[in-house]
Amino acid sequence: KLEKTLGYIKPDACDKLGDVVEAISERGLLIAKMRLCRMNQNDASTFYEEHKGKSFLRDLLNYVTEGPVVAFELVGENAINRWRELIGPTDPSKARAEASTSLRARFGKDVTHNGFHGSDSPASAAREIEFFFPSSGRYMLPNCV
Ligand code: CMP
Repeated sequence: KLEKTLGYIKPDACDKLGDVVEAISERGLLIAKMRLCRMNQNDASTFYEEHKGKSFLRDLLNYVTEGPVVAFELVGENAINRWRELIGPTDPSKARAEASTSLRARFGKDVTHNGFHGSDSPASAAREIEFFFPSSGRYMLPNCV
């Protein structure tokens, strides 16, 4: 079915934007929206509220706030799963062990610094698209272009 999903390139992988756009278009997904945003700790805690209490949360928040991220809305058949397949497993070393050509296998560093995000369900996709691309009148991340 036709779906929308939210992806973003984490700060240390933003120089791979060209490779990411190429991989997305090779897979026939459409980049409907794209923007550069800088999240602060408060923004990132809101985005990752499902991970509240997890041991890796502090490292994750420090990582995704260390510089700007490139966020995009992708549209296509089964876009949610297809984008997640394209980025690969959470842990890049696992991705490389599978001899995968996924973005995390190619550009990820470790389980925290894995370079890429993808929504995991239609409900999170809707919430995360609204977070980075709010409908008019809604709260807008302050540091976006
Ligand atoms: P992502 O799956 O996009 O969202 C949660 C992030 O937390 C994950 O990418 C990693 O960047 C980070 N993380 C660090 N350690 C872990 C872990 N053990 N399990 C899951 N996520 C982790």
